[in-house]
Parts: sequence; C-alpha cells; structure tokens
Amino acid sequence: MTLLHPAALIERKRDGGTLDAAELQSFLEAFLRGDVADYQMSAMLMAVFFRGLNPSELQAMTRCIIDSGERLDFSEGSAPAVDKHSTGGVGDKVSLVLAPLLAEFGLRVPMMSGRGLGHTGGTLDKLESIPGFRTDFGLDEFRATVDELGCAMIGQTHQITPLDGRLYGLRDVTGTVESVPLISASIVSKKVAEGISGLVLDVKVGRGAFMPDASSARVLAETMVELAESLGLRASALLTAMDEPLGCMVGNALEVREAVECLRGAGPPDLRDVTLDLCVEAVMVGGTRGDPNAVRSELAALLDGGSALDRFARLIERQGGDPGVTDNLDLLPSAPVTRDFVAPAAGYVTLLDARQIGMGAVQLGAGRMTVDDKIDPAVGFDVRCRVGEAVERGQPLVIVHAKDDDSAAMAVDRVAAAVTLGEAPVEAMPMILGRVRTRSRP
Ligand code: URA
Repeated sequence: MTLLHPAALIERKRDGGTLDAAELQSFLEAFLRGDVADYQMSAMLMAVFFRGLNPSELQAMTRCIIDSGERLDFSEGSAPAVDKHSTGGVGDKVSLVLAPLLAEFGLRVPMMSGRGLGHTGGTLDKLESIPGFRTDFGLDEFRATVDELGCAMIGQTHQITPLDGRLYGLRDVTGTVESVPLISASIVSKKVAEGISGLVLDVKVGRGAFMPDASSARVLAETMVELAESLGLRASALLTAMDEPLGCMVGNALEVREAVECLRGAGPPDLRDVTLDLCVEAVMVGGTRGDPNAVRSELAALLDGGSALDRFARLIERQGGDPGVTDNLDLLPSAPVTRDFVAPAAGYVTLLDARQIGMGAVQLGAGRMTVDDKIDPAVGFDVRCRVGEAVERGQPLVIVHAKDDDSAAMAVDRVAAAVTLGEAPVEAMPMILGRVRTRSRP
C-alpha cells in the first residue's frame, strides 16, 4: 500500500480530521519498517493526544498493534481463559492472589504482567522477590505451564505486540502517556494478543492512580471495555479506590507476604474484598452464568480452605521459585533496618497519600525511576493505619523497612508528609466506585 506523505496524515489528525483504517495501518506499518521516523510518530502521537481517536480509528490502531507480533490462542481447552489488568497502584498485589485463586476455581489464567514504573509497583518485581522465581518464560513454556497448572505469570515478551513497546517508548519521553485512546489501544491490544476469552480491568481511581477522579476513570474504563468487545474479547471493568495504598504492605517481598496471608484466608479485608470482586467479574466474563454471590462464596471458601495457596506454591515451584515461602514467610528477603513512624498527636487519619507512599517506596529502592534501575526486593512500608481510623499519640502508623539508617530516616520524613491527622473522622473512599459492563450483559 502506498503511504500518503506522513506529514499530510499528521496534519490531518492535528487539525481534527479522521484517518481511515488503511491510512492508519500504512502509517504504523511504515513506522515499524523505519520509513516513518520516530519524530514523525511522536508528532502523530501528540496529535492523537489532543484530538483523540474515534471508535473506528481506535479499533484500526489496536488491530495494527495486535498484528505486529504473535498471537496466542487459548480458545481450545476445557476451561475459559481469562486475565485481569490493573491500571496501576500502590500496594496492589491482587494478581498474586487472583491468578492461583481463579485457576483453583477452574478457569485458566495466562497472565502477562509488567514491571513497576514511577510510583506504582509491578507484579513481575513482586514475583521476582521470591527466591528463584522466573518470569522470563518463552511462549511455549508459558502455554505448557497454563496447561499443567491452570495459570502462569510471566512478563511481556517482545513476541507479543512489539509495536506497543515501540510506541510506549516514544510516549514515555514525549508527554503522551496519559491519553485515553493510546492507553486503551496499548492495554487491549496486549490482552487480545494473549488469546484469552475474558478480560477484567481494574481501573484505579485516586491520588495513587493514573486517573485522579471517577469520571475520567469511567471514560477510560468504558473505552477499554467497548474496544475489547469490538475485537471479540468479553470484558468488564471495576473502578476501585487508590487514594490510600491497597492493604498494608508496599514493597515487593512485603507484598508477597501479604498476598500469601490473603491466600491463607487472612490478611487485610480491603485486599480480600477487592480480589474477590475482581475474581467474580473474571468468572462472569469467562462465561459462567451462575449467581455472582454464590460464586463469591465459593471463591472465598477456596481462600479459607488453603487450596488456592497450594496452587500458588505449585506455580512458584513450576516457575523456578522456592515454594517453601508459602509455609515460611521468613524465606523471603527481609530488610536489615526497620524504623517506626509514630503518630505525633492523637487524632483521626484523614489522608494516607498513596502517591507519596509509592514515591517513598521508590526512594527506598522498591521501585525504579528509569527502566534500568535495580530493585531492592526487601524494602518498603508496612502501613498500620487506614483513613478514618482514630489513633493515639505515639502509636506506630507506618513501619519503614530499609537497607540502612540513612534511607530509613529519609523514608520516615516522606511518610510524615504522606500522613495527615485531623480532629474529626473522615469517610474513606468506598473500595468499589463503579462497574462498567457492555450493554449486552447486565
Ligand atoms: N499500561 C499499558 O500497558 N499501556 C499504557 O499505555 C498505560 C499503562
């Protein structure tokens, strides 16, 4: 196909015009071949950032990203294959519980996750804090693991949607990440290419999230759900609170600890509740027609009975890790220094700023500011209070886990800026702020 002069297509988008599917496809394919330069692609991304994409442009772009690499197919097989994707938060260890739990329920969960960047954590970094755990499986081993265990948890491979990797690299350095159509195309393309039949999106809302308010999160959720469904992937989304961290633990090995607690039927109630809600959505998009309340009870019983934890232990072993961590949490890395941040006065917790806490975790070494930074698996925070709670003067509110005294002192200062106490109680954000399903399903 002959490509219209790239500048002409960029100008049309810049001026608010539309591009047809063939034009978008030829532009993106030329970019992959090297016939459209990075600066031209960057200009197009900026034009899209300001002008958006209509549904057919969005679908065309997403198809192109899917077609840039290999496509898996889990349509054959005894159980529906589903996945969950979170838009990113602080203390979000849901995937570690959800994948083995859904596998134990009888679904297949071929999960491809990302690393943390900025103030948010990433599932791969958490898994790799388990001694020996490998997330670099090729697609054949990935498939084989799903066949054996019902789930596998690996990183994005360059075999799947390589165009997304190229575009994301440019977006990251050109101020074009926070665009609803570009985020939607990026996420949905990867999930369609995974070959699953159902997708649950956890769209985080609040200070620690990409989307600060529920209305912008809803627009993103609706765009992704409609796009996924238009490409044959059943999807639904929950809008969930991310003003304060999810659960107590923030930091890689610390979050694995908390995920194991949850798989033992214990752990913080907000983590358990949101995980069960997302699992119920996954079961529904997987095609089960049961009563959601009954499904939730069945899932809860799998947590309480310990069988989901056994499944996690088998997954850890299959992926090269030490399954003993599920019995003995002390096998996980632990930080040499701990330091308490205590309440400077009696009062009520009115703010626990998830973004500040996430940034503090990055400064401690739990996350990275650039993709090449090395992670310290042991460091992070144990947040011992919730918004709305009454606290006494001197009560430990956050325990800092650090590699040395200096970084512990720095983190205590950071936490002091993240926690606000007031004289009157406030209501915490409800955990579930909304649900987006297509018109075809209630
Ligand atoms: N996560 C993705 O995979 N892509 C985006 O564009 C944003 C978040």
